[in-house]
Amino acid sequence: MKAPLFEFPSYQYEIDDWEFKKKGLLNRINKSKYIRTNLQTFETDRQTNNKNYIHYLEEFLRPELLKFCQEAKVNFQMTDAWCVRYYKGDHQIVHNHRGWGFSGILYVEFDPNIHTPTCFVAPWQDPIIDSTSLAFPQNVKEGTLFIAPSFTHHFVHPNTGEERRVVIAFDLLPNLPNHQSINSFRECDNINLS
Ligand SMILES: [Fe+2]
Repeated sequence: MKAPLFEFPSYQYEIDDWEFKKKGLLNRINKSKYIRTNLQTFETDRQTNNKNYIHYLEEFLRPELLKFCQEAKVNFQMTDAWCVRYYKGDHQIVHNHRGWGFSGILYVEFDPNIHTPTCFVAPWQDPIIDSTSLAFPQNVKEGTLFIAPSFTHHFVHPNTGEERRVVIAFDLLPNLPNHQSINSFRECDNINLS
């Protein structure tokens, strides 16, 4: 029988009352300043939004983030959030966000008949055929929220459609117990230094 030692902890939710909430969200993200650098094959407000989505998104996603915290059995803090827009031909190369914590993708403007969800690279090699496995989240549509470990490599295939593909990405870090907390370490550090 199978006796798995590890699991890949990814989570998927649908935002309640999406059509209503989408209007408010678009209103907000459309006011952002988007830039496209030489290294970016997409446009984003990551460098310009001064992390001002964080409190808004935490409220916006509260029911789904609460479910996630319950399922993952730990509390999290959102540390960054940004919007990415992919026009025709835009894509994103393989990358990850950091070595710990989780990252989320909220699909805001997404046509399942044209666009593809973010593609994830399995963190381990397939032991039978010795190849790298790729996987998409299933049944993704506007209002889908997908959360996976931040260390997972992922990428976005080129947008072949005329309609843009818009997502909001964000990072979540677990709240560590006091003895492991970076803040408490800093407090101790300050005490020692003073
Ligand atoms: Fe990413």
